[in-house]
Amino acid sequence: MGEKKPVPAHVAVIMDGNGRWAELRGLSKLEGHHAGMDSMKEIIKKADAMGVQYLTVYAFSTENWKRSREEVGGIFELLVKYMAIELKEMDEKNMKVNIFGDWQHRLPEDAIEAVRDAVVTTGNNTGLVFNICLNYGSRDEIVRAFNKLLSEGRTEVTAEDISRALYSGEENGNVPDPDLIIRTSGEERLSNFLLWQAAYSEFAFTDTLWPDFTPEEFESIVEEYRTRERRYGGR
Ligand code: FPP
Repeated sequence: MGEKKPVPAHVAVIMDGNGRWAELRGLSKLEGHHAGMDSMKEIIKKADAMGVQYLTVYAFSTENWKRSREEVGGIFELLVKYMAIELKEMDEKNMKVNIFGDWQHRLPEDAIEAVRDAVVTTGNNTGLVFNICLNYGSRDEIVRAFNKLLSEGRTEVTAEDISRALYSGEENGNVPDPDLIIRTSGEERLSNFLLWQAAYSEFAFTDTLWPDFTPEEFESIVEEYRTRERRYGGR
């Protein structure tokens, strides 16, 4: 048994299972997302308390637009409500909010405003960095990065250039790659999330549906991660 590794600097979470959680209870999908939002709040606090420096959540993918207008509208209403209530506390806790994704387009106007307010208000904070993926897709992110580099006149690029041109790169303070990616609800796939950044990430899957995911389970997953040996292709 080796020594325990440090707490992961960056944990990314695919918050899956809100719909099934609601269905099991005869509730609407939106009630499921509402409960999912409560879980998210608890996990942010727990991650911060444990010394995690970067927390990234997959809140809305480029594919999620295929859902009903009602569900999509409801998710963004939740986001606006969340920001109105939580922004002050996040700011007081010195947390910095980043958005990964094409958030300036296609989102409802009040959601764009809420997001802009959060990014601007917390821009100089130095505590936990909370990255919310909104209208995010990893392939889109990579294509956008290449086009950015091409527009700078590059004819050849390095891996570092690509990392810097992603949403997680320079524009959001060069967030390090995730050490640990957690997906809830029993699904075991990446679903167009952080494809480039996940090259050496550790994965943890749990059957728990996101609204039932607790800070205690988060902690036990992190503790299990700390016993893993990471070799990055070396020995
Ligand atoms: C996956 O559950 C969850 C989502 C697509 C949205 C996640 C949203 C939240 C946790 C609340 C909103 C938070 C923000 C910041 C906007 P699912 O609906 O795919 O579950 P299912 O697979 O059981 O249907």
